Amino acid sequence: MKKTPASRKTTPPIEVHGSARQPLGMPPAQFLRDYWQKRPLLIRNAFPGFVPPIQPEDLAGLACEEGALSRLIRHDEARERWQVQTGPLSEADFAKTGDANWTLLVQDVDKWDADVAALLEPFAFLPSWRLDDIMISYAEPGGGVGAHVDQYDVFLIQGLGQRHWAISTDPAAPKDFRPDVELKQLAEFTPTHEWLLDPGDILYLPPDVPHDGVAFGGPCMTISVGMRAPSQAELTGDLADYLAERLHDEQRYADPDLAPAKAAGEIDAAALGRLRRALPFAAALDEDTLRDWFGRFITRYRVAQTPAPPARAVGEAALRKQLADGARLLRHPWSRLAWSRGKSGATLYANGQAWPAPLALAKQLCAQRELAPGAAPSAAAMELLLALVNDGHLVPRKARRR
Ligand code: SIN
Ligand code: CO
Repeated sequence: MKKTPASRKTTPPIEVHGSARQPLGMPPAQFLRDYWQKRPLLIRNAFPGFVPPIQPEDLAGLACEEGALSRLIRHDEARERWQVQTGPLSEADFAKTGDANWTLLVQDVDKWDADVAALLEPFAFLPSWRLDDIMISYAEPGGGVGAHVDQYDVFLIQGLGQRHWAISTDPAAPKDFRPDVELKQLAEFTPTHEWLLDPGDILYLPPDVPHDGVAFGGPCMTISVGMRAPSQAELTGDLADYLAERLHDEQRYADPDLAPAKAAGEIDAAALGRLRRALPFAAALDEDTLRDWFGRFITRYRVAQTPAPPARAVGEAALRKQLADGARLLRHPWSRLAWSRGKSGATLYANGQAWPAPLALAKQLCAQRELAPGAAPSAAAMELLLALVNDGHLVPRKARRR
């Protein structure tokens, strides 16, 4: 069926009007469907007649408390320098600020102030455990933290005065950081949308949207209701700890079905099968990941020391010459090796590290403590030998003169 313009999906508007009845300008279900974690939304007049729950002096007072997390950020526009001072702050710090281009940020203000915590109520449509904190900033004209991205969703409520917000909805916007500023500011920022927010307006931003907020015209307070979302790395690390705490020490990798090794040091398919039985919760892990992790792990496991690299790095030409002169390569006693076959050749593991390896060389390295590679190793073999020599796993020994 040919689509008529009426049946074509329209993009939800980026700007709406709120009301006392509907702070989001729409029912929460519609906000969650169309905007949450998907696209930014500016809600004009979300909180009509908004009165900030905290005064700038009280915020400054909190920033001086021992346990409060605060930062004072000054921007030297002329030299394009940023100065960040972490709290606890003192009256003397504020005396130095001047009347422009600085901002004070205090995190977790909801934990210190019940009126501020009450601002979370309109967000009760979100699971409470997704809410992180309320951060409040106070800024003099020109003050801000510079263009950046956040990893979390945030509702930026304009509390006092006006703030100029610029954001970029360009999915291809570069996200590299400026190397010269500790604030993780974006090196490049080209806004696609700009607004001036008044008290009671809210700007909602999903994670990873470049944004820059600058106090405009006079004193400015912005109240950030921030979410939290654990990274997959944090989830994985904690789950592993959780599961590990519940396993008994006698539950171990076991191989009562072991057959004589065909090649020393090989982590073969049977070993990986036994590993899967020992890790039933990791059933979804693909073969390559499981093999790579185990190779690194087992060559590090219960190894008290690791070989030290030679005092002077060995170059390829020098090693080739030594080998051509009949030098042998001795495996360092603390070097623990294993290897495995993968789809794209073999991998050699040594004390937690992995290298691509010619299959025959991987086998040989695991089988022999002393190697005579001969005068002309292949380029791939040479690359591996050189890496192992320079990491201290192999120690060249000159041929004995007769
Ligand atoms: C601010 O309040 O100055 C910064 C808030 C933000 O950009 O996340
Ligand atoms: Co931000």
